[in-house]
Amino acid sequence: MSAHYSPFEPPRRILMGPGPSGVSARVLLAMARPTVGHLDPDFLELMDEVAAQLREIFGTENRLTVPISGTGSAGMETAFVNLLEPGDCAIIGVNGVFGQRMKDVAERAGARVVAVEAAWGEPLDVRRLINAHKANPRARLLAVVHAETSTGVQQPLDELAGYLRGTGTLFLVDTVTSLGGVPVNVDAWGIDVAYSGTQKCLSVPPGLAPITLSERAVERVRSRSGKVQSWYLDLSMISAYWGSERVYHHTAPINALYGLHEGLCAILEEGLEARYERHRRWGGLLQRSLMERGLELLVEEPYRLPQLTSVRVPAGVDDKRFRRALLERYGIEIGGGLGPLAGKVWRIGLMGETCREQSVMLFLSALDELVEGRG
Ligand SMILES: Cc1ncc(COP(=O)(O)O)c(C=O)c1O
Repeated sequence: MSAHYSPFEPPRRILMGPGPSGVSARVLLAMARPTVGHLDPDFLELMDEVAAQLREIFGTENRLTVPISGTGSAGMETAFVNLLEPGDCAIIGVNGVFGQRMKDVAERAGARVVAVEAAWGEPLDVRRLINAHKANPRARLLAVVHAETSTGVQQPLDELAGYLRGTGTLFLVDTVTSLGGVPVNVDAWGIDVAYSGTQKCLSVPPGLAPITLSERAVERVRSRSGKVQSWYLDLSMISAYWGSERVYHHTAPINALYGLHEGLCAILEEGLEARYERHRRWGGLLQRSLMERGLELLVEEPYRLPQLTSVRVPAGVDDKRFRRALLERYGIEIGGGLGPLAGKVWRIGLMGETCREQSVMLFLSALDELVEGRG
């Protein structure tokens, strides 16, 4: 006898963690539209629009700008496996979980990794990265995380980009948590490769990883001596489907792409500057309000991300019990600390759709009730 299964009715949550963020009804409805074929002429038009929208949001004219089928980690893996060949040197900044993940992925691709570390909660020292490059001038790439989601640090990119421009080393930037929340200007800053994820400041469900490659990065992929070891993430084949040839590679996640298209329409309607300002405004309000309550933020200015705030768990408060009560009584999800910060910080996201005054006020009321017993 087979078991009886009923439809899953997800609880209503306010997603104020490190991602996923809230998704608008508009995007969810777009995803419920009829599925068409992945080579349907109307769908091919939608793909072209998505690529054009992504170029606007990344601030680039790069031809090779596509959403990879997979989450942000698939974007990361795509970048490293296409650009690196066994024995290549990669300089990687590590000041949190995602810098560590980049190092792991690069090593699995056979690279010799020179890691430049900084304490979790602090930015990478640009001088040290530049010195690592001077010691390894033939490095294939230098990679940093723009918005380190495990800590809430925003990494300054301009000096590094300026330095690398005059070298043969590619500049690779993880923009998973930054894209759509703080400015990302791929062309103006001279970034060669940037990848992102849909579920943070783009406010689209997880499942796609936008990526963009400069001409010199594309040239690097073209001039590889061996095949990319991942068939699925091989950009030469993926770009043959997204480009004018339209060669089948894998079946595109059709409805996920409807969602991305709708989410990007909403972002461009709002306007990028207005969106960044909204993140600055409500992220700033949250951070000031936490400090006014005597709580300690992990990251110093000017490195604090507005869309992700790490705050130390106040003395005498049980981290897990607090987060459970927040979820059960108020429907609010926030993140706990990772790695050395486990049990020590909360990570509060105000990303995309969730970045509203209402979210800040609701969280602060819940915090006051739960921590200060004012309720
Ligand atoms: C900075 C950063 N890079 C990469 C990833 C990996 O993305 P995903 O979990 O979507 O695979 C994340 C996810 O949180 C992230 O925050």
